[in-house]
Amino acid sequence: MTTRLTAWRFTLVAAAVLGLVIAGCMHPLASAPDVRTPYPTVRALLELANVTGKDVVYDLGSGDGRIVITAARERGARGVGVEIDPALVAESRATARHLGLAERVRFVEQDLFQTDLGEATVVTLYLSADLNRKLRPKLLAELKPGSRIVSHDFDMGDWPPERVLRVQDDGREQVLYLWTVPARR
Ligand SMILES: C[S@@+](CC[C@H](N)C(=O)[O-])C[C@H]1O[C@@H](n2cnc3c(N)ncnc32)[C@H](O)[C@@H]1O
Repeated sequence: MTTRLTAWRFTLVAAAVLGLVIAGCMHPLASAPDVRTPYPTVRALLELANVTGKDVVYDLGSGDGRIVITAARERGARGVGVEIDPALVAESRATARHLGLAERVRFVEQDLFQTDLGEATVVTLYLSADLNRKLRPKLLAELKPGSRIVSHDFDMGDWPPERVLRVQDDGREQVLYLWTVPARR
């Protein structure tokens, strides 16, 4: 009975993912769907992380590049967008060039689990609860103490956030979470 229920759940999840791929909303290698953070929420996210011109912002799963581009344009930060979908990487690069930001931001076509985070001072995420939990050891191992992590909509399991911000945007409540990487013991 349990085995049949598990198989049924797996079939449902697989069907949902396949539906998103067929609908063109998800790259076949992506582990989170391609939905965007609305711009007012992007600004709230950058404010929550207190992004300044001294920061290097990494957006893991950067979509059309809006978070990294807004961080450079409005806060003077440098940024790196990591995205598995080549079409979105090309779109992000074109936008950055068009806005004259190609010197401040770059976009890498890569699986985010392969990205070296040593240079980042801020990491932004809009992925899934499961991906956040899988990413947590990598974030804690590679980010410098004091680096900030902000996540749209998804928490980090049993790592409690330092702050939670609720933003009314795009007809719903968008929930933003902030963590600071602690000193290594
Ligand atoms: C929900 S969208 C968020 C886009 C953008 N960060 C934003 O907030 O508007 C998630 C993005 O992550 C990308 N993605 C999913 N799995 C990935 C992976 N393993 N490596 C790199 N990018 C990935 C998807 O292609 C998608 O563009």
